[in-house]
Parts: sequence; C-alpha cells; structure tokens
Amino acid sequence: MTLNSPSQRGNSGSKDVHNDTDNRTQILQVMEKLAQIKDVHALLAEVLLQARRLTRADAGSIYLIENNVLNFSYIHNDTLFGAAEVNRYLYASHPLAIDNHSLAGYVASTGKPLLLDDAYHLAPGMPFTFNNSFDRLSGYRTHSILAAPLVTSSNKTVGVMQIINPLNEAQQPSTFTPGDLLLLKHFANNAAAAIERAILTREIIMRMIRMCELRDPKETGLHANRVGAYAAEVYHQWSLKQGISDDEIKQKKDSLRIAAMLHDLGKMAIPDRILQKPDRLNAEEFRIMQYHTIHGARLFRNQESDLDVLSAEIALNHHEKWDGTGYPGKIEDIYQDHPRLGQGKQGEEIPLAARIVALADVYDALVSQRVYKGAWSEITTLGYIKNQSGKRFDPQVVDAFLAIYDVITAIRDKYQEGRSPSSLVT
Ligand SMILES: [Fe+2]
Ligand SMILES: [Fe+2]
Repeated sequence: MTLNSPSQRGNSGSKDVHNDTDNRTQILQVMEKLAQIKDVHALLAEVLLQARRLTRADAGSIYLIENNVLNFSYIHNDTLFGAAEVNRYLYASHPLAIDNHSLAGYVASTGKPLLLDDAYHLAPGMPFTFNNSFDRLSGYRTHSILAAPLVTSSNKTVGVMQIINPLNEAQQPSTFTPGDLLLLKHFANNAAAAIERAILTREIIMRMIRMCELRDPKETGLHANRVGAYAAEVYHQWSLKQGISDDEIKQKKDSLRIAAMLHDLGKMAIPDRILQKPDRLNAEEFRIMQYHTIHGARLFRNQESDLDVLSAEIALNHHEKWDGTGYPGKIEDIYQDHPRLGQGKQGEEIPLAARIVALADVYDALVSQRVYKGAWSEITTLGYIKNQSGKRFDPQVVDAFLAIYDVITAIRDKYQEGRSPSSLVT
C-alpha cells in the first residue's frame, strides 16, 4: 500500500501524468457545464460524474462540511447501480467528524489529498482506518482510493471528494496514479467554487422557506426538503420510463427539486386567522386559502429562467387533481386584481411537475403528524394513494412513486422531524 502526496510520489515526467493542456481544456469544458447547475444535489452528482470520467473511476462519494462535521452527500457506484438510476443510497446519512479517525476526516482536517493503492492494506502508522461497512453491506470491494479536499479560492474547505477503483482497459480495478491525483486536486479546486455557489443558493431558498414557516408551522424546512427530494426522484423514475434523455432528465431534475420546495410560498399572503386555525376551515376561509396558489405563482411574475417558469407552474397547480376536482382551476389572467377561481384543470392540462408535487405534498402531509391529525400508517397511506390513482393523482406518477418507494422512505428518514435545520443543505 502507498499513501503519498503528489510531491512524495515524484510524478513529473511519469508516463501516467496526463497531458496538462488536455486536462485543462477538459476541466474548463466541465466547469462550463457545472456553472449552469443551480441545485446542490444536481451539482454534486455532476461533479462526481465528471471526476470519475477524468480518472476512469468505478465509484465515488462526496462529503460536505456543515456545522463542523462531514455529511455524506452523494455516492456513485457503477458496479452496484448505474449513475442514471434512482437509488436509495443517495439519501443515506453518515456524519463524520473532521479528525484523523476517518479517511475523509483526515483529508478535510489536513487539507491534503490522499492516494491509497489498497484501502484494506494501509501503511502502519496511518492515523485513520478504512471503514468497510459499505463493502460489507453491499458486497462491493474497494481497492484504490483517491481523495481530495474541496477548497474554494478563499481557502475555505467545503467538503471532500473521494473516488474509488479506477478501471483498466479490461474493466478491472487497478490503482490510481500520481497523475490522477494531480488531476483530481485541480478539478476539486475548480468544483469547490461551484459547490459553494450552489450552497449559497440553497441557503437563500431555505431562508425564504423559514420565513414562510414563521407564518405557517406546517410548512417546515424539512417538509420542503422532503417534497423537493420526492418530486425530483419521482420525476427521474417517470422520465426513465418515458425514455427521456439523460441530459434532459438532469436539467429538469435540477430545477424541479428547488421549484418543488417553493410550492407553498404563496401562503405568506394568507391571514394568520386562517393559516393558523387549528380546526377545519369553513367555506369562506377555504376559499381564501385556495388563493395561496395564485399568490405563489405571482411571485415569479418576472420570469427570468426555467426555474422561475417551473416554480410558478408548481405553485399555481399543485392543488389541481387529475379528475378535475382541484383548484384554483383555469384562470385567464392570474395577475388581474381579483381573479375568480375557475373550472378545475384535468389530466394533462395540469403541468407534469405540478402533478408530481401534488402527490409528493399529499403523501408527506398524510404520513406526518399535524396539529389537527395524527400521522397515517404506511399501509393506510399507500392504500389511499393507490385508490386515488386516476382520481386525485396521475396514474403514471403514482406508478413511478410506488416503483421507488424504498427511495421515498430513505428520503423520509434523512429529513425526519427533530433533525437540526443545519443539516438541511444536503
Ligand atoms: Fe399548497
Ligand atoms: Fe406543502
């Protein structure tokens, strides 16, 4: 086994070292792609994918630093599950201390990259141990590991990226080279700035949601995170079934997660006496409440981006029902002074993103405890959703939801009530 920094390994002139100009061009092209991604999850997925492409790595993961711990944030493993698949491992939670006990902790605390030829044979005296629990659970065999800190230009370490098992031409695991290490380090430095920007965007969104939470205690940051993640993954599964291209899925999923989180911002315009009423709303109160959809959509009046368009669509239509019995219905101009609620939209008249968020939002409300109701059991909730397929919900959306139910429950576990709001970034 070896554990070396690039300088220890002495790589200049090695045939393994990639051509510098080629690498720089490749990294620049990748950075252009990364600059277009808004959501931190979508960005981490792309960063990891590109780092693995550059080094031919079979697997990898990213940890982000939040509140002085490393939070497990993203994983790829081509042998176990394709990068294009929806999988529950993406929502696992493994916080690590930033210290010498773990490999990622060591890289974060020292700021030094690491190259291991074999994770199971560490050199004597290494301060950390390799945690093989993932290998034990999954049957995977980690060999070579390359880990690099994600450091921004202002010298702030925002996380650690580790990639695993480079594949040789025969698709067999080999070992990373010092050239790979230099490449990953360079790429990680560039990616860190994009990640920091995405975290900032996420923080601004979370602040907007917290403002809403001040008014309506049901609309918590955790609820928003769960609805965003359910919607993104259900969309992903639905799109795979439709044969939609990988690029289109990535692009839409990126915006959808954020837009879904903002579904109820319009509640800010609803009076407290209605929003915070513990009992059932009477007919007049409910009529006023229905306008949160219109108020929400109006927030995105100056539509500058795809994200604005999608956010408005979801805010306006997330209470429409597949069978046409939802609200606010067809309205000619939502910007007029006192728009009248219209005839409910039906079937595919309701935008897909809103059909997905409708299910995600209702599912989350049913399985959560609220002041006015206890949490429904899983069996009752799933029974209701199946029963409402083709009535309240789009049947294809219900099918996609049920097909990834293990992912849905992993998301619920990750963003469960009682967890600190600081862990909301990932
Ligand atoms: Fe709503
Ligand atoms: Fe909601």
